[in-house]
Formats: sequence, structure tokens, C-alpha cells
Amino acid sequence: MAMVGGIDIGDELVDDGTNFIGIVPTFITPNYLTMFRFYEKLELSGEKGVYRFRCLFKDTTAIPETTLGRMLSVWDCLYIHKQDMADYDRYLKDNLHIILANEGIELDKRVMLFTEICFEVIQGVMGDNFGLPKFGVETYNKLKYLMSEAIGGVSDINFLNGIATLIGHDYGTYTHSIKVGWLMAIFVNANPDLFGVSGKSELEKLVVEVAVMGFLHDIGKAKIPRHIINKKGRLSNLEYVAIQAHTVYSVGLLFELNLPKHVMEGILYHHENEDGSGYPCGLKGEKIPLFAKLCHIADVFDALALTPELPYKTSKTPYQSLVIMAGKNPNLDALQQMEKEVAESGDTPAVDGADHGENPDIKRLEHELRMTREAVKRVEVRMRLRDKGMAHCFDAELLKRFVMTLNRSKSFEFSTFL
Ligand SMILES: [Fe+2]
Ligand SMILES: [Fe+2]
Repeated sequence: MAMVGGIDIGDELVDDGTNFIGIVPTFITPNYLTMFRFYEKLELSGEKGVYRFRCLFKDTTAIPETTLGRMLSVWDCLYIHKQDMADYDRYLKDNLHIILANEGIELDKRVMLFTEICFEVIQGVMGDNFGLPKFGVETYNKLKYLMSEAIGGVSDINFLNGIATLIGHDYGTYTHSIKVGWLMAIFVNANPDLFGVSGKSELEKLVVEVAVMGFLHDIGKAKIPRHIINKKGRLSNLEYVAIQAHTVYSVGLLFELNLPKHVMEGILYHHENEDGSGYPCGLKGEKIPLFAKLCHIADVFDALALTPELPYKTSKTPYQSLVIMAGKNPNLDALQQMEKEVAESGDTPAVDGADHGENPDIKRLEHELRMTREAVKRVEVRMRLRDKGMAHCFDAELLKRFVMTLNRSKSFEFSTFL
């Protein structure tokens, strides 16, 4: 055979693995087997870190498709040469609807595939390292196409079982956005009566729209410097305002696309609170559009269960997250006062004892340390206050429906909550 990388030893290639990429065998439909060269990875006796990659399925013409399908399920992982990866990617995207609907493939693997493909598109939109976002009609159409391809599988209630394994494990902006879009799509699909849609095609159109809304709800963060987005301590007044501006930035970035009004409103108002204490406009109750209310619920549900990154953050189960979201906060005044203070306190306290003749570098470091401790303490207090209840942020009826919808999946057990 022709040599495509590594060392050619007839039917096999010897390689340290850098030229090969692992793929999920069951993603391949048998009639596509001959389109790519698939390899099996084998140990090379006596050599560490070097493997034999044996080419499989070189001639499949005499084998019935059903047998081929069964053969594929024998391997946990097969390999493709880097050179073929672009073709393989295209194959996955073109056949997404078939793969996602295939119940013979483990749910986790299908969920992962969909997440990875959406991740790639959203990452492309937001740019590497939060560089300049580049969003155009083409990308929007790509997302819409992906979602409409995936709609049969992704909006199904069973897919919640797959998403349950993702929730709380990754809070990268991209995966967060995918999960929010996904939760919204499942919710709309399961509660068409709330949205006044009639007929399957109208519902499908709406499900695709809300999924894309979720995917893009935080796109405006791409315009905010990364060091502010990732800052763990106390935010200055300007930083606080800058972060809040992401909702307005999102709408600005999407403006030329002529998206439906409810999609734009959903994105713009996804941080409005039911009692009027949210942003950007401080809208209250009925003034907040339904899609914005839904986006807010899905957004916080995913964000609350985030993996701890700081000592004061404790990981929450989906159940605990919902308890917080539905709980009445007994210290609402104190919480709101604190929120106000954070927004208003851009200053740092004056450095004490400038004339003590000590090394200025040491004094500066001590000061920074004190400031960091102070900031962490304040974030901790705010978070503890917030965790006593967030019912003032959400539409109670909608939240209840949200819980009921999640409860229909066997991965979430909220019946005692309801
Ligand atoms: Fe947001
Ligand atoms: Fe968000």
C-alpha cells in the first residue's frame, strides 16, 4: 500500500501515534467504509511509545452491510490518518442527523459528537483567545443547519440523559452556550403550548431558533477583555459594567443578520430578573420576554452547578441548583446592597504606612495580598447570600415547568422537589 505517514511495513504503518486520530467506529455507516482508510492500533513488541497501525476493511465488496455494521461494533476505537481527517469531518457533518438518531450508538458518544461539532462552530465565531469575533450570515446559517440536522435527536427528552453528564463539568463559555441552547430546545419541544405554535414544522422552526439563541446568548463576551471575564476577585466599577455590557454587545454583533425579534430580545434580556434587579434595562415581570426568561433559567441552571475553581465555591448537584433557584432569599436587602456596592466600589483602600522605611516591593506585595484576600472574602459573602435563594430572579411558573420537563428524563430525579 502507499505510504501515508509513519513507516510503511506492508499492510501496516509503524508510528508513535502522532499521525493518527482515534474515532468512534459506530459513527461510520457501513456503506462509507471504503471512503476512508481505517486502522487498528496494535502494540509493537519490545518498543515503548511506538505502535503498529493495521489497515482494515480494504475490500468490503463481498461482505453484507449488516455484517459490516456488526464488525464495526467490535472495536472501541479505530484510527484514521491525519491526512483523511478533513474528509472524515465532512462525513460527520453531512451525516449528523443519521448518526444522532442511531440508537445503536451509545448516547454519551452522540452527545459528545454534537457538542464537539457545535463547539467548533461557536469557537470559530468567538475567535481564538477571545480575539475579534467574526460573525456573519454564513456562520449563523451553519449553526442553523447543524441544529436542523440534529433536531430529531437533540430535542428529544432522552437526550437530557446525555446532557446530564455534561452539566456541571465544564464551564467554558462555548460548552456552556451549547448546553444552554440544548436545554432551551428540549424545553420548547416539550412545551409547545406555552409558545402558541401549531403544527410540527412550526415547532421545529422554533426549536432551531431557540437552540441558536442559546448558542449565541453570550457571544458579546467576545468583545470583553479576557482578564476581566476570568477575574475571580472583586470587580471594579468599570469591569462590572463592562461584563454586563455583553448582552448589548451580543445584540450589536448579530444586528445585521435580521434575526427574528424574539431571538434578539431573548439574548438582550437574558440577565433581567423578575423583580427588576437585573440588567441591562431592569425590566420587571411581564415586561421580560418569554424567551429571555427561559434563557435566564437555563443559563443559571447550568452555571450554578459549575465545578469549583476557587476554595469558597462548592460544587452543586442539579437538584441543589434548583433548590437555590426556587428558594426565597431571606436576606434579599443585604444581597442587593452588596450587589450595589460591588458595582460602585472601583477604588482600592489606601496603602498603609508608606514611610516605615520598608522595602517598597515587599509593601506592594503585602498590599496586593491583602487586596486579594479582601476580594475573595467579599465574593464569598456575596455567593453565600445568593445561594440562600434566587426566586426573585425567575418566573416561578416557568421555572416549575422547567423542573417538570427535566424530571421527565431518567437522569434527573426532581419529583420530591415538585
Ligand atoms: Fe450572559
Ligand atoms: Fe450564559
